[in-house]
Amino acid sequence: MSIKSITEYKNEYAQSLDDLSYWEKPIQWFKGGELNLTVNALDRHLKTLGQKTAIYFEPNNPKDKGATFTYQELFDRVCQFANVLKNKNVKKGDVVCFYMGMVPELMIGVLACARIGAVHNVVFGGFSAASLAARVQDSAAKVLVTQDEAPRGDKVTPLKQIADEALESCPEVKTVLVLARTKNKVSEKEGRDFQLLDLLDTAEKTCAPEKMQSEDPLFILYTSGSTGKPKGLLHTTAGYMLWVKETFAHVFQMEKDDLYWCTADLGWITGHSYIAYGPLLNGASQVIFEGVPTFPDAGRFWSVIEKYKVTHFYTAPTAIRALEAFDLSYVEKYNLASLKVLGSVGEPINEEAWQWYYDNIGRKNCSIVDTWWQTETGGIMISSFAGITPSIPTFATLPLPGVAPVLLSQEGKILDGAVEGLLCLSRPWPGMARSIFGDHKRYMETYFSNYKGYYFTGDGARRDEKGNYRIIGRVDDVVNVSGHRIGTAEVEDVINQHPRIVESAVVGIPHAIKGQGIVAFVTLPDQNEKDESALLKDVNVLITKAIGPIAKLETLYVVSGLPKTRSGKIMRRLLRKAAANEKENLGDTSTLLNPEVVEEIFAKVASERS
Ligand code: WT7
Repeated sequence: MSIKSITEYKNEYAQSLDDLSYWEKPIQWFKGGELNLTVNALDRHLKTLGQKTAIYFEPNNPKDKGATFTYQELFDRVCQFANVLKNKNVKKGDVVCFYMGMVPELMIGVLACARIGAVHNVVFGGFSAASLAARVQDSAAKVLVTQDEAPRGDKVTPLKQIADEALESCPEVKTVLVLARTKNKVSEKEGRDFQLLDLLDTAEKTCAPEKMQSEDPLFILYTSGSTGKPKGLLHTTAGYMLWVKETFAHVFQMEKDDLYWCTADLGWITGHSYIAYGPLLNGASQVIFEGVPTFPDAGRFWSVIEKYKVTHFYTAPTAIRALEAFDLSYVEKYNLASLKVLGSVGEPINEEAWQWYYDNIGRKNCSIVDTWWQTETGGIMISSFAGITPSIPTFATLPLPGVAPVLLSQEGKILDGAVEGLLCLSRPWPGMARSIFGDHKRYMETYFSNYKGYYFTGDGARRDEKGNYRIIGRVDDVVNVSGHRIGTAEVEDVINQHPRIVESAVVGIPHAIKGQGIVAFVTLPDQNEKDESALLKDVNVLITKAIGPIAKLETLYVVSGLPKTRSGKIMRRLLRKAAANEKENLGDTSTLLNPEVVEEIFAKVASERS
């Protein structure tokens, strides 16, 4: 298969490609259309698939009882949840925040919002009280849905307690709905907190779908960028719906009796697009999983695949690498013959992990779909189609129909042919985020100002002579830790709160399991500070409190200065090299103000590693 050269493409669409005003206009798809997404995800199936299982819920502990929902039962429950929200005075356009584990009620609640035109804002249950508070405030949510506690592996996260702490600074939240999950006693604030299950069980099982315009907001989802606080990306209704429906169908190629399982959490975009929405829009059956890959042991994923006879399995490279580290007997114990398609998402998959996944999980006869996309893109943009276009190790392969990637040089020139460059998209697509909630200017600046006429993804990529794309990773100040995006600026802000730290710079380094780990270089007033490990501990406490444990540092180096340009910008590129102990190809260092600290930093990293 050959692709059109960019020059051909450019000639064909000459008017739009270089025209910034093209992107400056509000992005709108299916203008004038009216719909309700849940009608397409649920009502539409009831006649033919009403008795088909929509969800098999697999709880954290395999000894606990799970649950199943047919499409009819899911429909009923979504309507009940929608009525609960309505009774709490939630109206079209209001924002409802969710802070939960992977329980069916989270998915049901999200769909219930869509049913009544409320905008959901799901906050990952691993975030701290401070992060939750910031997201509740920024989105102006009035209702929070949470649960007593979330069991994960052999631990429980006290979600209600964390939510209570967050809500101290969120006076606008007047209603909190609490799911009794572990049923352990948690505090209950009179007049504000309500037992979700009690309300659900007594609510009406029908709820007319709210009529939505194509461009009405569907949800806000926060993600980290290279600067500033997390951005609330805003997705709208019709274009997003179409994109997740079609990309799911084409990439995964599910047949009628197949069973899908995506291990992501609903707190991330993968959970939104390919758990809550995509599978239901296609009438598929799926497993949703509350636990972690290594509890009760490293065979859990494979035991779940055997138990339900999963045919389509979608996970992240970090999970594959983590499980690859265990003995193969954990895999061999289970019958994985049901599997047909394996998916990968969230970060570049290294060759070794790809091969291990293909050989041992796919038994060399499953297609691997390596799906590249982002919170901003709403759905998959570059991927093979299972069984239709070839899988190539470490390559996401080809853009989906209608997706127009280009590779640009640092100077913004289009690079043709087999090259490496900055991955940009030259035409809009229906699933793209329309704005950053409350800050459209920032949206325009972040995505459309770096390279005039293009959406800039923040990723670097390589293209082969056949037009296949291999994603290399972020080229901006974002670190991808276990598939989670962490902005270096956010982490630096927290580190700088430490009373003894003057300045800090955070970079990502290669990490065998997480893909990338976070490393900080800091300066102190007292240069003789020796106890870096005590400082690391302190700083990690701060980070866990301000962001969450996912943003913890691997290493902290005390240095006498940070490498800066004459204009005062920290040269993170050099720190990345130093942290990874790579002395070659340092690039242009002519603007460096203080070359001596670079020497010192390299020497320091090298000595601490040996
Ligand atoms: C960033 C987006 C896509 C949903 C989960 C993450 C990286 C994502 C791949 C892939 C290489 C990938 C990119 C991207 N990424 N998928 N298949 N191969 N890298 O969504 O949190 O918005 O992160 O994840 O760097 O920009 P996200």
